[in-house]
Amino acid sequence: MLRESDVLSTLMRRKPGYSLAQDLYCDPGVFDADMARIWYKEWLFVLPSCEIPKAGNYVVHEIGAYSVVIVRGNDGEIRAFHNSCRHRGSVLCKAKKGTGPKLVCPYHQWTYELDGRLLWARDMGADFDASKHGLSPVHCRTLSGMVYICLAKDAPDIEEFAAETARYLGAHDLENSKIAYESTIIEHGNWKLVWENNRECYHCAGNHPSLCRTFPEDPAYIGSDPTGGLNDLQKQHTDRCEAVGAASAFRASATGDWRYVRTPLLEGAESYTMNGKVAVSKPNSSLPFCDAGSLLKYKYPGTWNHFLSDHILLFRVTPISPMETEVCTKWLVHKDAVEGQDYDLKRLTEVWLATNDEDREVVENNQRGIRSPAYIPGPYSPKHEAGNIQFTDWYADTMIRAITTGATPVAAE
Ligand code: FES
Ligand SMILES: [Fe+2]
Repeated sequence: MLRESDVLSTLMRRKPGYSLAQDLYCDPGVFDADMARIWYKEWLFVLPSCEIPKAGNYVVHEIGAYSVVIVRGNDGEIRAFHNSCRHRGSVLCKAKKGTGPKLVCPYHQWTYELDGRLLWARDMGADFDASKHGLSPVHCRTLSGMVYICLAKDAPDIEEFAAETARYLGAHDLENSKIAYESTIIEHGNWKLVWENNRECYHCAGNHPSLCRTFPEDPAYIGSDPTGGLNDLQKQHTDRCEAVGAASAFRASATGDWRYVRTPLLEGAESYTMNGKVAVSKPNSSLPFCDAGSLLKYKYPGTWNHFLSDHILLFRVTPISPMETEVCTKWLVHKDAVEGQDYDLKRLTEVWLATNDEDREVVENNQRGIRSPAYIPGPYSPKHEAGNIQFTDWYADTMIRAITTGATPVAAE
């Protein structure tokens, strides 16, 4: 198990443009460093706000050693708290999701307001100050209907991302959406392999027969070729969508942790369905045409999303152990769309259920091969895997910066 100084030297010895060293995909010490230096420090997408539409609705999300309750208050605000009672630390919410007028600890029934204030604690004596025993808050921001949390004491600046998210998601109505379907799978692979697989479509032709009916594997479509150049089709598509007010041009952050781009689908395809036509007749976008392509977004390390003219796909990545990663997918449709009338659940979900399973298999094969003592990091395709080069650069730069600036890992605070 590597110590953090070994993790740093492994990262410093890295050959850019090549897959990472074996330890960076397998070692428990690297996993701990990833958690402390990235997952406990960065903003993480947890759920769409429409999943907890009413006051008292809550969801519990686990990340590494942490458990967090995300709850909507009586004022409509969504907040996040550590899921640990301020009495003797019991888990406060045992269920993964639920609803209640207050948050009541199952151990001795200390009772908290939905905004985290301690309201009631039995027989604690005259000196007890309830105002000093409110729930410990976790940074929480709702950006255009997507809820993000940050476990760090000081959260990184998110204002530019928030402003761009408002601009790009302006045409997509998450607040008036609902979850039509959700799937959670465990991939037996390191979280970085899950991302690397997501960031390229070099594998698509050989593995994704149903996705390839509508999704272009040519990286120029999403402006991820080595020159960052767009092909004419992508440019025409951007112009057409921006003319109706839908932000679409390629836009990425300076540090590389997020990107938006609206890419056309193949030859007039409208959505990720087997016949390419829309899956939902009551759309949750304001786009005036169905063949608006897919607004592709990622925000490292926790989420990538597809915003289509008729529905939205939200993917959430959560590391479980060095070689296990949870991938949760949510299909969002307009809140008034009726199953069986406005959409057929099988048509809506079949392409990405298959694609997720195919991706799980390639990620697991990748991890198994990397575990072999014979594994040697190999070169990324400059044409097809520029996204992997970008991701591994972001990962290495972020880790090296975090370790060398000497900040105490959050887990040790
Ligand atoms: S631990 Fe929560 S009330 Fe005692
Ligand atoms: Fe894939």
